[in-house]
Amino acid sequence: MMHNTQTNAVPSMIDNSIPHHQEFLRDVLHGLSQPQKTLPCKYFYDERGSQLFEAICSTPEYYITRTEIDILKRYMADIAAIVGSHCDILEFGSGAGIKIRLLLDGLTDPRSYIPIDISMEILEASARELAQQFPSVQVIPIVGDYHKDIQLPDAFRRQTPQRKLVFFPGSTISNFTRPEAQTFLQRIRRLLTEGDGLLIGVDCIKDTEILNAAYNDAAGVTAAFNLNLLHRIKNTFSTNLKPQHFFHHAYFNAREARIEMHLVSKLDQIVEVEKTRFSLRKGETIHTENSYKYALPVFASMAQQAGFTTGKVWQDPGQLFSLHYLTAH
Ligand SMILES: C[S@@+](CC[C@H](N)C(=O)[O-])C[C@H]1O[C@@H](n2cnc3c(N)ncnc32)[C@H](O)[C@@H]1O
Repeated sequence: MMHNTQTNAVPSMIDNSIPHHQEFLRDVLHGLSQPQKTLPCKYFYDERGSQLFEAICSTPEYYITRTEIDILKRYMADIAAIVGSHCDILEFGSGAGIKIRLLLDGLTDPRSYIPIDISMEILEASARELAQQFPSVQVIPIVGDYHKDIQLPDAFRRQTPQRKLVFFPGSTISNFTRPEAQTFLQRIRRLLTEGDGLLIGVDCIKDTEILNAAYNDAAGVTAAFNLNLLHRIKNTFSTNLKPQHFFHHAYFNAREARIEMHLVSKLDQIVEVEKTRFSLRKGETIHTENSYKYALPVFASMAQQAGFTTGKVWQDPGQLFSLHYLTAH
């Protein structure tokens, strides 16, 4: 169902259909019936989940957001020179839209901005603010699940001499398994024409202590974010689920080069969701999120296989995080 664009002051939302009740239920029942119980991380982001994610970004341990913002600020002139003028920008998982402000400020006369996010409330609010702050940019928000096909507005499909730029910050690509990430890069490539760009933030492999701390902040915000998924299930379905019967556990799995987030059952229990029963032993976990960490050459090789030429890679002095500019070839 497509609604079309309006004025810049209040951009109307293109509804690309977010997962609704039945799909959410199907995913929950499927995930909880696996030998290693699991829940898809896209369900973290209801309104409360998005607020908690924003709060995670401000914790001292979560280096990702502030480091990527520092890189964007430090190298913006470089980025602007490469991207050129009058580009059309599409962002996956735009969230609160903090980083795009730096780009819209720093690039030369960007023409349009299409944020795509599954979280309607945060998308609506950020699109409204951006349209007000950047009146010369056409802002076209799309609420949708980026795992599905998304019908793009003309602003991104038209053939122009100007560049199209896909922006995918925050190392959200880390939530995909390696094969999923490879497939997603190929999908992005298909949205672009030769010479267009992808500016993508990718978290790096580093000291295990720094990684473990980032996903176990002392204030417990990441724990609340993880547990919020259970609150969302409890608030959505008929269930005896008690979030207080679980605790947050996150650790770096060095063999897989990924942070794993789990919800650990505090006791032997039977959880019933819409009349389907699942038993959990004390200590058994529900795997809720992965965050893969990449060595630069590994990511570069994935990008090349997906049809991109690798270009500049910007990093912070501590080499915690990387921002890659890739050109579609
Ligand atoms: C890790 S946050 C990153 C937010 C922001 N891009 C940043 O760099 O800080 C992931 C964002 O992707 C959105 N998201 C997660 N899964 C999604 C999906 N399947 N489809 C669309 N958006 C999704 C979330 O709502 C959230 O805003």
